[in-house]
Amino acid sequence: MWAKILGLFRSKNASANQVVSPDRRLVLAWELRNGVLYYTVTKDGRSLIAPSRVGFELQNDRPIASDLQVNRTLTKSSNEKWETVWGEEKEITSNYNELTLYISEKNGAQRLFTVRCRAFNDGVAWRYEIPSQPNLHKFKITNEVTEYSVDLNSTVWWIPAFQPDRYEYNYEKSKLLELGETSQSVHTPLTMRLPTGHYISLHEAALYNYGSMTLKLSNGRLVSDITPLSDGTRAHLETPWVSPWRTVVVAHTVTDLLASRMMLNLNEPNLLPNTDWIHPTKYMGIWWSLHLGEETWSQGDRHGATTENAKRYIDACRKFGIPALLIEGWNVGWDGDWVNHGENFRFTEAYPDFNLSEVVTYGKQNGVELVAHHETSGDVKNYEAQMDAAYAFLAQHGIRYLKTGYVGSRMNREQFHHSQYGVLHYQRTVELAAKHKIMLDIHEPIKGTGIERTYPNLMTREGARGEEYEGGGIDPSHTVIIPFTRGLSGGFDFTPGLFDITNYTKRVASTLARQLAYYVTIYSPWQMVADRPHMYENQPAFKFIHDVPTDWAQSKYLLGEIGEYLVTARQDRNSQDWYVGGLTNDSPRKLNLGLDFLPGDATWIAEIYRDSPDAHFRDHPLGINIESREVRSTDRFEMYLAPGGGFAIRLTPKKASPIPPTV
Ligand code: NOJ
Ligand code: CA
Repeated sequence: MWAKILGLFRSKNASANQVVSPDRRLVLAWELRNGVLYYTVTKDGRSLIAPSRVGFELQNDRPIASDLQVNRTLTKSSNEKWETVWGEEKEITSNYNELTLYISEKNGAQRLFTVRCRAFNDGVAWRYEIPSQPNLHKFKITNEVTEYSVDLNSTVWWIPAFQPDRYEYNYEKSKLLELGETSQSVHTPLTMRLPTGHYISLHEAALYNYGSMTLKLSNGRLVSDITPLSDGTRAHLETPWVSPWRTVVVAHTVTDLLASRMMLNLNEPNLLPNTDWIHPTKYMGIWWSLHLGEETWSQGDRHGATTENAKRYIDACRKFGIPALLIEGWNVGWDGDWVNHGENFRFTEAYPDFNLSEVVTYGKQNGVELVAHHETSGDVKNYEAQMDAAYAFLAQHGIRYLKTGYVGSRMNREQFHHSQYGVLHYQRTVELAAKHKIMLDIHEPIKGTGIERTYPNLMTREGARGEEYEGGGIDPSHTVIIPFTRGLSGGFDFTPGLFDITNYTKRVASTLARQLAYYVTIYSPWQMVADRPHMYENQPAFKFIHDVPTDWAQSKYLLGEIGEYLVTARQDRNSQDWYVGGLTNDSPRKLNLGLDFLPGDATWIAEIYRDSPDAHFRDHPLGINIESREVRSTDRFEMYLAPGGGFAIRLTPKKASPIPPTV
């Protein structure tokens, strides 16, 4: 009775049900209309998301979506700084206001349901919590009703969901309205430009024990379409349960999207007791030769992962100053049609021509660590049966880096990689790897939702179309869309560094300078040095790859337009040096670049790698000019980028200062 009266009071007093960002510009407001819960998002009084419904539909039970009342609300604020173990920034500020709505059904089973909301200056987020309660214990979600009523004239960059190659697609650009015509569900992060000029990105944070959210246009609204399990339900759950955060990053300029750290801020702090063993790295690989067909994953004359070849690659790593080496095709299972026969993989059994201990020892002697590789072909059952032994085996060999892979359109031929089944599996790999002090790079992964803050041994992942698609599958606009879309979900192992651009089998859609720029513009705490070592011999441009770090004190996004161009500057976490990378699409462009991100009035040495005036990603990709000059923070550069081109700059203080890095 009292709850009823309080509920009525609350629903009339709608303004109590809103949370405002610390700078007071962004508002996430909630309202009950006839027992149905709606939210809106406004910035500076202008509507970004019009009233949109939330709720859940359950199997064999009534939906939790109507007949609702708000029984109680709670507010709190938080403003703190935290230090990352690795990342794009050393220190991150988390400043938000929080509102919690304690909701129940008015009648019937009076099931309880909580919405926790946060407003940051760079976006808003909310999550659903279903607490322990008498009338709800085990339940199956058949549909999550989270709607996003965004102006249909917004421009949207999207990749399709539920396709055989998971996230590995080229982005489409269209009006939001046109998404309806395709009846296509799309992945998040979903980045949009609204007619108001704002950029927003819809995504999720802290995805555990649930299907990943895709979005589709239905009746003029974007609605969540949670990746289903093979039985058609979206998740099998038990109370208490909390959903991932539903996140809306809001930016005034497109480069501000890249600076948002809200996704990480919404994740729990590091859970690992000790992180001394976790290190960003660069790595070469017995890899591109396999993709080119020069060597094979399988046994035979051209087997890549032989003891002898691995030693040759280790020699190259040492010579070129690259601290780690990936070896693919080292273990039993690659002979024949491995893509469709994941059950053959053995993760503790090396091929007879590969002596793992000998290779590890040789690596140690030469200061090169191995990156092990577990391709599962999506046979998760086979992998999980061996995982304990396989991770212990790596740890016994002193191997700390592991790349995993899940080629195939479904796990065990039945479950989507992005379903609750996949989410739970990937999480098991992360936790087991942490137990064995193993760092992970997951290919064909679940999308990033910032859980690397909590488990910093989950360092990077693929989850987008990477350089393996060179040879026709990538064009220059792809990599000027990626940082504004997929890039918002964390590190991407794009595998840059291909110098054999004019290769007959796989022509690379890039100039040479652009390959360098990727190390700065596409963030990953592990960066590959992807080509075969002989391609780096006598290549002055290789110096940039040698020098560039993969761990940053701070990052600045200087110039950009989605699908057009991007310039990013980052400061090394372990020195005062800055690195700048710039990319264009297939149009040539002159960019005016200021250096005012440099601190103080010191003189800096700039080593500049840029496209020659006659460079072109198709006609003359190797045209590069390399020069060194003195600059100051007040200087500006006119930088020419060739079609499909780019530039890279290393900035070092002229006199190395005795003062440690400022940040
Ligand atoms: C796809 C991965 O993305 C690629 O890097 C790897 O070489 C192959 N699978 C084989 O595992
Ligand atoms: Ca892949």
